[in-house]
Amino acid sequence: MEQLIIRGGKPLKGEVTISGSKNAALPIITASLLAPGVHQITNVPELRDVATMGRLIGHMGGLTGYREGIMTLDTGRLRTPEAPYEMVKTMRASVLVLGPLVARFGKARVSLPGGCAIGGRPIDQHIKGLEKMGAKITLESGYVIARARQLKGTKIYFDMATVTGTENIMMAATLAKGTTILENSAREPEVKDLADCLISMGAKIKGAGESVVEITGVDSLIPIANYSVIPDRIETGTFMAIAGATGGDIVIKNCRINHLDAVVMKLKDAGLRFDETKKGLRVIGPKRPQAGSITTLPYPGFPTDMQAQFMALMTIAGGTSIIHESIFENRFMHVAELRRMGADISIDGGTAAVKGVERLTGAPVMATDLRASASLIVAALCAKGESTIQRIYHLDRGYERIDDKLRKLGADVKRVME
Ligand code: EPU
Repeated sequence: MEQLIIRGGKPLKGEVTISGSKNAALPIITASLLAPGVHQITNVPELRDVATMGRLIGHMGGLTGYREGIMTLDTGRLRTPEAPYEMVKTMRASVLVLGPLVARFGKARVSLPGGCAIGGRPIDQHIKGLEKMGAKITLESGYVIARARQLKGTKIYFDMATVTGTENIMMAATLAKGTTILENSAREPEVKDLADCLISMGAKIKGAGESVVEITGVDSLIPIANYSVIPDRIETGTFMAIAGATGGDIVIKNCRINHLDAVVMKLKDAGLRFDETKKGLRVIGPKRPQAGSITTLPYPGFPTDMQAQFMALMTIAGGTSIIHESIFENRFMHVAELRRMGADISIDGGTAAVKGVERLTGAPVMATDLRASASLIVAALCAKGESTIQRIYHLDRGYERIDDKLRKLGADVKRVME
C-alpha cells in the first residue's frame, strides 16, 4: 500500500488548479443511463471513485473511456440494470444508478450500501421517493429491487435534505409521466450542476439549487454533449485550509468562490485574507490562525466535507474552537490521529472542543476516510518534522494527484510504498 511522507513547516506558495468536482461528476455520469447513445462529459477528475463508476456502467454493458478529463460513455446497449454489492460496498455513490435505471428500464437491482466509516447513512428517502412515484420496491438478499412500468409525477417531501437522494429522484422524475415536485430538496451546487446537465439533455427542471424543485417528465432525453463539470468546492476549501495552516500564499485557479461562502467567512474570521485576482483567488494565511466555531449544515451552511480540514486548521489556532458535526454521527475519526500529532481535542457526542496549540509535531498517522485524510495532510503540512500518512487510497478516491499539486506549491511530500 502507498503512503505519503510529509515534512511540514514550510509556508506553501504558488498556484494550484482545482479539478472537476467528484460529487458533481458521479451523478452526472449516472445521468448517462437515462439516454441511450454516446455521451461526453468534460472536466471529469481522474479519481478512483470516477473509475469505479465507469466500471459499474461497464458491468451493466456500457462502454466507457477516459482521457485527460474527458469521459465518454456509450449507454446504447445496456443489458444488466444492476449495481452489485462488490461495487456498492467500495463506493456508496453507486446508489445513484437506482433512479436512472428504474426510469429508463422499468427495473433496477441495486445492492443496499452497508454502514460506512462516517455513519449509518441509510437510503430510505431514495426508496420512499421512488415508491411515491409508483415503483414497487422489495428487499431481497441485501438488494433493493425496484420495478415500475412508468414512474408517475407526484409531490415528495424529503425528511432531511439529502444530496444523493435529491439527485436520484430528480433523475427518475425526468422520464416520469407528469410533474414531480420535490420539497426540502438538497441545495448543494452539485445538485444544481446535475440539473443543468439534465436540462442540456432535454429535461424540464425548475428550481434546482433551491428547496422546491419541479420536474416535468419528458418522453426521452438526448445524450450528454460535452457538459463540463463544476470545479470541486471541497478541494478548493482544502487548499484554503492549507494556505491558512502553513502561513502560505496560494493562488487557486478554476474555483467558484460563491460555492464556498460559509467556508470563506469562517476562514476570514480565522485571519486568512482573500483577494480575487486575474490569475485566480489569492489566499494568504495568517501568522497564526484565530480560533473559530462551526456547525456543519446542509448547503449553504458550513459543509460537513470541510469539517475535518477546518478542525486541523483550528488545532494550531489561538484560542478554543467548538466544532459541531450535525450531518453524520461518526465523523470525528480524524480526532484520534490529530491527537497523535499533539492536537488538544476533546469530544462530547457530536461536538469537539479544540484547544489550539502552538505547533503540531509530525507522527505516523492513518487515514480513515476521504476528508479525514485531507485533514491529516493539512496537519502534516504545518507540523514540525515528518509525518507518514498511511492508507492514502482514501485520499485518491477524491483528490486528483494531490501530492503533485502540493509539490508544485513547494511542499516536501513523497509517495512511497509501505
Ligand atoms: N439520510 C437518511 N436517509 C436517506 C438519505 C440520507 O437518513 O435516505 C441522512 C444521512 O445519513 C445523513 C444526512 O441524511 O445524516 C445527509 O446525507 P446525504 O444523503 O445528503 O449524503 P449523501 O448524499 O450520501 C453526499 C456526498 C457526501 C457528503 C454528503 C453531505 C456524494 C456522492 N456524497 O452524500 O460526500 O458528505 O452528501 O453533504 O455526493 C465526500 O465527498 O467525502 C462525501 C462523504
